[in-house]
Amino acid sequence: MMVTANIMEISEDGTNYFLPKDLRPVYCSSAAPLLTGFVPIIAGPFENVMDCFKKNGPAGILPESSKVDEIADGTSEMEYNWEMLKDMIFNVPGLFRQLEAGISVLEVGSGGGIALHRIAAHFPNSRFVGTDIASKYVDAGNKMAREEGLKNITFQIGDVTALPNDWDNKFDYVFCMKVIHDIWKPGLALKEIFRVLKPGHHFSMIEINLHSNVRDNIDMSFAAFNYCISLNHCMATALATPGAEGVGAGWGKENMKAALEVAGFSDISFHETGNPILVHVVSKKRM
Ligand SMILES: C[S@@+](CC[C@H](N)C(=O)[O-])C[C@H]1O[C@@H](n2cnc3c(N)ncnc32)[C@H](O)[C@@H]1O
Repeated sequence: MMVTANIMEISEDGTNYFLPKDLRPVYCSSAAPLLTGFVPIIAGPFENVMDCFKKNGPAGILPESSKVDEIADGTSEMEYNWEMLKDMIFNVPGLFRQLEAGISVLEVGSGGGIALHRIAAHFPNSRFVGTDIASKYVDAGNKMAREEGLKNITFQIGDVTALPNDWDNKFDYVFCMKVIHDIWKPGLALKEIFRVLKPGHHFSMIEINLHSNVRDNIDMSFAAFNYCISLNHCMATALATPGAEGVGAGWGKENMKAALEVAGFSDISFHETGNPILVHVVSKKRM
């Protein structure tokens, strides 16, 4: 079954079974049981999504009909280990030293704030703000910070497409993890991030490691899984907002670069994360 479903590979003589090379880090990680747990969660809103394809059906599904974000915290817990976060920080020129010295950092769409907590715990001289549109994640993030005794981190409700007016040029570093493709207007979110970032400083986004042209993703074993999550969650929930672009999780690196440039960013570079599914995109707001 797993060979014919392209999950496993088989030797020429049909006697040996192998995991595809590019997926070994995922299948062999401690996140694997969580990823398989995604299957029933993803299937949950199936009927609602099918309604969207009907004549005069809804444009998208309400975020409440999907449980993906609720279990996303579990996978993030596994994915955002210190090694991954440290690599991410070293991909940004000068950032490690700046964090040690003390800077102001914003994470947008922080969810339960796993990444922000771990980074904040390593850099006590820096101040960290996490924002998310959902109050349940903001409350969970603040509760965790209290329990861990972290005094340099706060979470607040915030829409990345409409950040506070008095945040112009406020932050030394802005980052987000698996968020921009979920936003109803990614271009607007990037413009807002550009506005709140200080000139000469960097923005990082962790995104899905796919190309914009589907043909270029045919050989990537994880592509079908991501398109499936996107159809039933990312794109479906984004399209519920009238006027949404709904780029989906597979908007791809070429489209990401173009959207960053339109928002004003330059010096765009792509970095591996140790997880074949995720890519780290670094960009800069020039002086
Ligand atoms: C896939 S989850 C990622 C959460 C977290 N960054 C992580 O990697 O674990 C996407 C997050 O974006 C948040 N979100 C969606 N639309 C948003 C918006 N317009 N402004 C801010 N956050 C938003 C959701 O509430 C959710 O927490």
